[in-house]
Amino acid sequence: MTPAELKALVRTIPDFPKAGIQFRDITTLIGHGPGFAATIEWLAREISGAEAIAGMEARGFIFGAAVAARLELPFIPIRKPGKLPCCVIGVDYELEYGVDRLEMDPQSIAQGQAVAIVDDLLATGGTAAAATELLRNAGGLVTRAAFVIDLPELGGREKLAERSVDVSALMNFAGA
Ligand code: PRP
Ligand code: MG
Repeated sequence: MTPAELKALVRTIPDFPKAGIQFRDITTLIGHGPGFAATIEWLAREISGAEAIAGMEARGFIFGAAVAARLELPFIPIRKPGKLPCCVIGVDYELEYGVDRLEMDPQSIAQGQAVAIVDDLLATGGTAAAATELLRNAGGLVTRAAFVIDLPELGGREKLAERSVDVSALMNFAGA
């Protein structure tokens, strides 16, 4: 399938979660078997050379875990707070209003391991930047991140470039 065909499988929901936001919904993409498979193939090609794949709860698990299995690589789950039973390290990061937090088990990463980040969506880049910091704190080498969707006007690619992380995205949605 072509990138344009894959983009057409993403459903746009207006005014979710609040008025004025166009929500790019991957439910319809992953609900299409060949489309989901082609998306995983594309992501897997983009992060070739990685030694492990990290994905962020929740939607990053869908794509990251599938890419890791496709490449027969370890999958590192980056979790929302309060989910892991022990051995947790975390990083707080700022949202537009308030703060959020990501956590991981540092034993899930080998020192010096080349880890690629996979998530469904790059918006402000806050989530991926926090994941980068967390993985680096745990001893990982993070230089690549691959996303299904980029919202280029929100500056995520630049935020990650400042952190020496190269970004690729299968599709982008610019404008309203
Ligand atoms: C969404 C999306 C990305 C993140 C991108 O996660 O899945 O992880 O926002 O936004 P950012 O680049 O501005 O950080 P969210 O936690 O909202 O939902 P999810 O639990 O369904 O993944
Ligand atoms: Mg997410």
